[in-house]
Formats: sequence, C-alpha cells, structure tokens
Amino acid sequence: MPGTDREVTFRFLAQPTDVNFGGKVHGGMVMKWIDQAGYACAVGWSGKYCVTVAVCGIRFVHPILIGDLVSVHCQLIYTGNTSMHFSVDVGARNLATGAETLATHCVIVMVATDEAGKPTPVPPWEPQSEDDKALAAYARKLMELDRNIAGEIARYRDAAHLPQPA
Ligand SMILES: CC(C)(COP(=O)(O)OP(=O)(O)OC[C@H]1O[C@@H](n2cnc3c(N)ncnc32)[C@H](O)[C@@H]1OP(=O)(O)O)[C@@H](O)C(=O)NCCC(=O)NCCS
Repeated sequence: MPGTDREVTFRFLAQPTDVNFGGKVHGGMVMKWIDQAGYACAVGWSGKYCVTVAVCGIRFVHPILIGDLVSVHCQLIYTGNTSMHFSVDVGARNLATGAETLATHCVIVMVATDEAGKPTPVPPWEPQSEDDKALAAYARKLMELDRNIAGEIARYRDAAHLPQPA
C-alpha cells in the first residue's frame, strides 16, 4: 500500500557477467542496481511511476568481487512534494570468510510522474525518531550541496559558451 513501506533490500550474487576490465564488478553495474532499488522503493512508496532525477554523493569505496553476496539496501529518508530521497548502501560479503564491506553509498532522488511525465505529489513521510530527523536533515543538506554544484556547472558552461541543460 502506498505510503507504508520505506525500505527495500536486494540480495544476489555478483556474477561473471558483471565484471569490468580489471576483473571486479563494473561501476556502471553498481549504479544500475542502485537505480533499480531506488525505483522499486519509490514506486512502492508513491504507488506511481517514478524516474531518477539525481544521485548525490556517490563514491565507490571498496571493489565488489565476482561471487560476493551483494546487498543493496534502500531507505526513504526525505519526501518533498513530488520527490523521494533514498539513502542507499551497497554491501559485499565474502561468502567464504563472512567478511562484509560497505562498497558504495549514495542518496538517490526519485520523482513520481503522472501519465504526461510531469511531477506529481507523493505521500509525505514524517520523520519521528531523532535518527530519522537526522537522516531527513542529511537529505536536505545534500540537496543544497547538489544545487551549489549545479550552479557552478551552469557558470562554467556559460563562461565556456557551452549549451545549458534545459
Ligand atoms: C524528473 C523530471 C520529471 C522533473 O521535471 P521538472 O519539470 O524539472 O520538475 P521540477 O523542477 O518541479 O522538480 C521535481 C522535483 O525534483 C526535485 N529535484 C530536481 N532536481 C533535483 C536535484 N538535483 N536534486 C534533488 N532534487 C531535485 C525538485 O526539488 C522537485 O522536488 P519537490 O517537488 O519534492 O520539491 C524531469 O526533469 C525529467 O523527466 N527528467 C528525466 C528523468 C529521467 O529520464 N531519468 C532517468 C531514467 S529513469
């Protein structure tokens, strides 16, 4: 039911088809998993079709090896009017040793859209606990930083006479 489930976790094995030229999991594959988990969580929360609008603070901290058990944990941490912000942790477990590492973290922002592809309101999420309030503040801070980056990019492209994103 929309507005009830705020978390999704995918678990699967890193496959030989996920490999990059160095023999580890391709960064693009990790981004695809993040996008899929964000999509699943966003559609579940909003009950509507959703698109990705931004990915904030992504960093590949540790490589994921073929055969690792991958977990992609996605949790809603902030809602705006039409946007949903999800904290995503991608972990990798060596099944033989049980060693678990956090491979990647980011915040992905999804927007619910109507039949015309226009943003449409989502059920609000109200943080109650102190931890949840801190997560919502973290999402707002990242959004502000992202806007500053967008402003820098616009200034640079303007100075370099490059076309601006519409
Ligand atoms: C996402 C899209 C529908 C938004 O349309 P738009 O006319 O720019 O809409 P708005 O400017 O009103 O922004 C919609 C929401 O996104 C949020 N948003 C926009 N840019 C953002 C950013 N960089 N970081 C965080 N949130 C952002 C806005 O704050 C707004 O949220 P709110 O309603 O909760 O306040 C449109 O940009 C689009 O279709 N983009 C392409 C999406 C896509 O193809 N994704 C990849 C494949 S799924």
